[in-house]
Amino acid sequence: MRRCGVGLVVLLVVAWFVWLTTQRPYVHMVAVEPRVCDGESFAEPRSREEFRTLAELRVPVLLRNASVVQAHNWPAMRWNLSHIASRLPVVPVYEQAHPHNTFITFHDNKPLEPVLRDAQWHDFNVKRNASTAALFKDDTMACVPYARQPWLRHACAVPTRERWLYFSARTQLLREFWPEMDTEAPLGPLAIADTGEQANLWLGNAGIVTHTHYDASWNFFVQIKGCKRFTLFPPNTSLPLYPCLHPHIGHLAVDILNDADLSQHEGLNVFVADVVPGDVLVVPPMWFHHVTTLSDSISFNVWTDAPEYVDIHAIYQQPVPLEATWSRAQLLHSALLFLHAVCMRAQGRSCGEAVYTQRYHHLLASNSLKLAPQQDIERIRGLCNSQELNQAVDTERLLERGEAIGREIGSMHVDARTLMLHNYMEHVLLAVSSPETVAHVVQHCRGKY
Ligand SMILES: *[C@@H]1O[C@H](CO)[C@@H](O)[C@H](O)[C@H]1NC(C)=O
Ligand SMILES: *[C@@H]1O[C@H](CO)[C@@H](O)[C@H](O)[C@H]1NC(C)=O
Ligand SMILES: *[C@@H]1O[C@H](CO)[C@@H](O)[C@H](O)[C@H]1NC(C)=O
Ligand SMILES: *[C@@H]1O[C@H](CO)[C@@H](O)[C@H](O)[C@H]1NC(C)=O
Repeated sequence: MRRCGVGLVVLLVVAWFVWLTTQRPYVHMVAVEPRVCDGESFAEPRSREEFRTLAELRVPVLLRNASVVQAHNWPAMRWNLSHIASRLPVVPVYEQAHPHNTFITFHDNKPLEPVLRDAQWHDFNVKRNASTAALFKDDTMACVPYARQPWLRHACAVPTRERWLYFSARTQLLREFWPEMDTEAPLGPLAIADTGEQANLWLGNAGIVTHTHYDASWNFFVQIKGCKRFTLFPPNTSLPLYPCLHPHIGHLAVDILNDADLSQHEGLNVFVADVVPGDVLVVPPMWFHHVTTLSDSISFNVWTDAPEYVDIHAIYQQPVPLEATWSRAQLLHSALLFLHAVCMRAQGRSCGEAVYTQRYHHLLASNSLKLAPQQDIERIRGLCNSQELNQAVDTERLLERGEAIGREIGSMHVDARTLMLHNYMEHVLLAVSSPETVAHVVQHCRGKY
């Protein structure tokens, strides 16, 4: 793939080979463009209300050459490297050595972090200070967008480098050094909700990949220089995910574009959008997105809280009806009864099997977690396999509370319901186990909730 330009025959053979070897993962996926606002199919949004209405469609929408960010409104569209370097001469960047060009967020202090087997998790994202001027080769950031076939993405597009550097920061934290930020990149109508407003600046090298993940936010992504390829797919998949207690919360546990076994996901709708300067991409909340930076790139985005994010945090604030004075068996059985009621009310069926297969099976199968002592595992297995959940206490109250929480989760948007429900369940299961045993509880008790 590095032989581009050697000769037509070689190129054709290489292209054919690349096509043959890389198209396989796409066999069962349907590559489609997102809806493009071309001013004819539907009116371009301009006001905050119009942007909100558009976002509430919850489908990816690409606004080409969006008037809301044209340079007379948005001086940031004229940003160049010398301007950025004059405001931010040195930036703390995530750095990865070749060949690790994929960046994946690692949230420290998630409950499962201490029981991960692999110490290299800690080094996944190493930060260092880099000179902004040295971040990019030059100021052109030229790119070749609009290659519609996703399997062509590697052909000549991704350069090899010694180091991959990626900088992202909340613009709020940059104001001290860059006082004109708010006038150069005004959020205006892109901040469509009143809570969780966060704008970010992203600077990255050509070839950087952001691992597939979802955010529980409204997201308007503005491309300023260079181009990026977004691959998006809807929240209703059953692809394996990292558990929400894991530091990679919200990320797929497979590399969907390369090595996932997608045979069981026939018909998965995949949306591909190449964004170029002046484009605004609407990434719906909970939609999975994988991003390849096709050239050196400068981007900006605005997040605000989607309603399900606010709702789930309100639910986390409500007490779980379990008492510290109960025995361990009573706690476990009570939690399972409670969660069964939550699931039945939220989605009309139990959820244990789905939480296990989607979130824990791959971690246990790949031996990524330190196992609990054998006697603890046996104890959990014994408690969960007892025929009756007869050790629960205050059954009536458990069911009543479970139904109330289930109703609240069930009223969330369909795109958020299952993901949020499973996140909530993991939190409750952690309350009656420990980081060392939660995977075993999920595994051995899955028929009971
Ligand atoms: C973007 O839109 C403006 C006017 O709305 C137009 O003048 C300009 O040529 C367009 N640019 C591109 C690249 O289409
Ligand atoms: C970079 O941007 C600054 C500020 O807008 C401008 O004064 C300067 O002329 C630009 N430089 C180049 C090389 O375009
Ligand atoms: C980067 O520089 C800042 C300011 O000099 C310093 O406080 C910080 O510790 C440095 N970070 C790293 C990772 O070296
Ligand atoms: C999944 O979501 C997409 C997009 O919202 C929708 O078109 C599709 O019908 C859904 N599939 C299932 C199985 O619910």
